[in-house]
Amino acid sequence: MRRPLVAGNWKMNGSKEASSALLKGILAGADAAVSDIAVCPPAILIPLAAEKLAGSKVAWGGQNLNANESGAFTGEISGGMLKDYGCTYVLVGHSERRTLYGEDDALVAQKFGVAQQAGLMPILCIGEILQERESGNTEAVVARQLDAVLDTHGIGAFENSVIAYEPVWAIGTGKTATPEQAQDVHRFIREKLAALSDGIASDLRILYGGSMNGGNANELISQDDIDGGLIGGASLKADEFLKICNAAA
Ligand code: 13P
Repeated sequence: MRRPLVAGNWKMNGSKEASSALLKGILAGADAAVSDIAVCPPAILIPLAAEKLAGSKVAWGGQNLNANESGAFTGEISGGMLKDYGCTYVLVGHSERRTLYGEDDALVAQKFGVAQQAGLMPILCIGEILQERESGNTEAVVARQLDAVLDTHGIGAFENSVIAYEPVWAIGTGKTATPEQAQDVHRFIREKLAALSDGIASDLRILYGGSMNGGNANELISQDDIDGGLIGGASLKADEFLKICNAAA
């Protein structure tokens, strides 16, 4: 039985004050929530999250890491540094990293491995852009993104990871994939991995991300292969985020 996970990706939002209030609000409802919960604040707010969340049910993680362990990479943060601040998770290959910062499949695969070496659980983000969906290429795109990691690290690496299917056209647009559209891709992902290892595929949590909110979470998360959510905008409001955590039944 896969335990649902709801993870908040705060993106580049927040301040010390606003984040303290948000964490306090999340903590107020966390124990009663049905899902596992995680938040991924901007890196500079991770020490604050670590301080506020220590000993609670809520885990925390990074939004990105560098593909190297250390060295002359000005402005970058390593997996070891995230681990040092108690991170459980790190997002890898978020569509904004892929599109805005030129991260290709090979770099994403490298980061996936480096995250695991540092003792973090990568949340591998995959998904198609609108044009790819409209031209019938969704499965090919998702397969290519998965293959980059499979070819480098093998199916065994997925034992210690989470996948987030985030159709790029649904991110921050208010345009959610229908539960059927999302389920179809989630099933495709699980079946592709099951062809390599049934056990790993059936234990793997596959989250949906893209305009998920308190109103549509139930229907999405009740699909067979949707095991929670990766939440952007709605993770910045404690009440809304907790509604999603309670939809994860
Ligand atoms: P929104 O929930 O704001 O659409 O963002 C989704 C996302 O990109 C989470 O990583």
